[in-house]
Amino acid sequence: MDWGMKNRLSRIIKPKNGRCVMLAVDHGYFLGPTEKLEVPQRTIEPLLPYVDSVMLTRGVLRTSVNPISNVPIVLRVSGGTSIIGEDLSKETIVTSIEDSIRLNVACLALSIFVGSKYEHQTLANLSTLVDNGERYGIPILAVTAVGKELVRDARYLGLACRIAGELGAHVVKTYYCEKFEKVIEGCPVPVIIAGGKKLQKEIEVLELTFNAIRDGASGVDMGRNIWQSDNPIAMIKAVKSIVHENFSIKEASDLLEMEKKIEDKSTVVIR
Ligand code: R5P
Repeated sequence: MDWGMKNRLSRIIKPKNGRCVMLAVDHGYFLGPTEKLEVPQRTIEPLLPYVDSVMLTRGVLRTSVNPISNVPIVLRVSGGTSIIGEDLSKETIVTSIEDSIRLNVACLALSIFVGSKYEHQTLANLSTLVDNGERYGIPILAVTAVGKELVRDARYLGLACRIAGELGAHVVKTYYCEKFEKVIEGCPVPVIIAGGKKLQKEIEVLELTFNAIRDGASGVDMGRNIWQSDNPIAMIKAVKSIVHENFSIKEASDLLEMEKKIEDKSTVVIR
């Protein structure tokens, strides 16, 4: 692997333990102003000190992240669809490799929709992006998105993750599921998990993170369960403690409660 590729990957997945805490704030690319991400800068800025990297689009990067911030950027470069459009799987590559280099990104991210109407198109997108990434030493994160009618089980997610790895993705993002170790076993590159829709109880977020790491995930690329929480800083710290410090669910939960008190105290209420 080339020096540049290794260097960028090491900024995303920490070499000391092979783990990563990525903050996902790319939802607006097809969802528009998602709840609690209406003003991206407001959501993103307070969380940056606690994450290893941040995943977002170039529009949000340029408008909402200070360029002197040293946080590694995972740039979402697939899109061209909307939640009210014909078919979410009809994605294309929407950002050039030149602009990605200009933005000094550490990684490029793109969705694949295995089993969907536009499966071939999204897998071809991934292959093109891998070729471009290899040319310039930029790793590729493949996001295994699921169509409405597809079940998120180990068989399906295992298929999608393996295909992503075979096509050359350097990291794959998927969902946690039962028999997750089978998904890990079948994927030749590191796998990280999305959080999915906001879970009802905070403890469920910690359980999800713990179980995924226990079963072989290399980390998280988590969004809504962090920033839709009433205490996003406390939540990211608790998730991070599991990923990077091998905290148990109980230890992470204790940390969460302690950090919530600190966060609540430091929140200034303007009347
Ligand atoms: C999905 O469109 C995006 O790629 C998100 O980054 C991904 O789903 C992770 O975010 P969340 O934890 O909110 O599911």
